[in-house]
Amino acid sequence: VNLILLGPPGAGKGTQARMLEEAFGLVQLSTGDLLRGAVAAGTEAGLAAKAVMERGELVSDAIVLAVLQDRLSQPDVARGIILDGFPRTAGQAAALDDLLSARGQQIDAVISLAVQDEAMVERVSGRYTCAACGEGYHDLFKQPATAGTCDKCGGTQMKRRADDNAETVRTRLKAYHADTAPLIDYYAARGALTEIDAMAEIDAVRTQMAAIVGKLT
Ligand code: AP5
Ligand code: ZN
Repeated sequence: VNLILLGPPGAGKGTQARMLEEAFGLVQLSTGDLLRGAVAAGTEAGLAAKAVMERGELVSDAIVLAVLQDRLSQPDVARGIILDGFPRTAGQAAALDDLLSARGQQIDAVISLAVQDEAMVERVSGRYTCAACGEGYHDLFKQPATAGTCDKCGGTQMKRRADDNAETVRTRLKAYHADTAPLIDYYAARGALTEIDAMAEIDAVRTQMAAIVGKLT
């Protein structure tokens, strides 16, 4: 099964992708994570992407496609993929169609996470993750059982993203509406789109997602 999660920053793409990964054995492919990995490793792609990401703008299709293709060459993706944060432009959507058809595959479902912009600034500004295992938390909506200690791995180092401040979130929301939201119609026209209410609580969103993915596997 190959899935796309569409939605603005803070919609819960990463949170839900990790749950689907565990529940269905799929592989989460987050272009945001791949790009942050490239920045941390200091690769050519990372050097080009760093400042763009800090401003909250979209990285060029060429760079994003390069990091994605690199990841798609690893064998574990054969289990099925959850694309989290990709595609984000019409050009990326077209390139994805080509990439998959070259592998004899296709997109089975596109899930659009519908949310209100105003709530997203709060969600993203309150977010932090475990430095060791990447588990996501939130100051208000998802705290670990023991403050400062990861529920999943016991790690005690938490980190926040450089682009998770209110001003940059607004720029990211603008980029979403200008370049990414049109993909909702693109996939709806193919009959591949399901929209879910992602303003609901995390567990309620999870239940909606699991029902959709469960029918495909
Ligand atoms: P990326 O890393 O993809 O970030 P994003 O799309 O802005 O999405 P986020 O990770 O902020 O949000 P999310 O939807 O995953 O929400 P989460 O589950 O964490 O991209 C970063 C940058 O990289 C871009 O700005 C761009 O520069 C570049 N980039 C990446 N891909 C690119 C591409 N394809 N093309 C070009 N450039 C690209 O949830 C947020 C918080 O809310 C968490 O704390 C969570 O606990 C909480 N939460 C989640 N769900 C709920 C809920 N239902 N109720 C309450 N709280 C909730
Ligand atoms: Zn952890």
